[in-house]
Amino acid sequence: MIMSKNEKTLSIIKPDAVERNLDNEIKEIFKNNGFSILKEKKIQIEKSEAEKFYKVHETKPFYNDLCSYLSSGPIVVMVLEKANAVIDNRELMGATNPKEAKDGTIRKKYGISIDKNSVHGSDSIENAKIEIDFFFKD
Ligand code: CMP
Repeated sequence: MIMSKNEKTLSIIKPDAVERNLDNEIKEIFKNNGFSILKEKKIQIEKSEAEKFYKVHETKPFYNDLCSYLSSGPIVVMVLEKANAVIDNRELMGATNPKEAKDGTIRKKYGISIDKNSVHGSDSIENAKIEIDFFFKD
């Protein structure tokens, strides 16, 4: 198996979790699972920016609500690094729908609904690069 020592992925702690002051607790979970937080910032984005970020979902029925939601309050965006960061982060987050997420995952522990599922993580190495650039290109 190919192991990348320093793969990067983008993680977002979504408004439902920041609102409940869970951001530090969730950051500790990442660190305890071997991720380094290379960059992070707490921001609130415009709906138009959320629409750009989630453009891949623009034909989906949930697109409008999703973009309204991501821009509804502060979020924490982070660049996480570890070997196999993309896949390991998706494993640690759990299924998109918290009701289907396995015990021990972030979404099982904190997620409220499929929309308010507490965290986002890049779904591929290619998208990780695009998403990291989206928030941290400066
Ligand atoms: P996320 O990983 O941020 O990527 C897109 C988001 O759309 C997803 O998490 C969910 O919060 C949200 N979403 C809402 N409805 C659905 C759905 N039916 N299928 C997948 N994602 C959905």
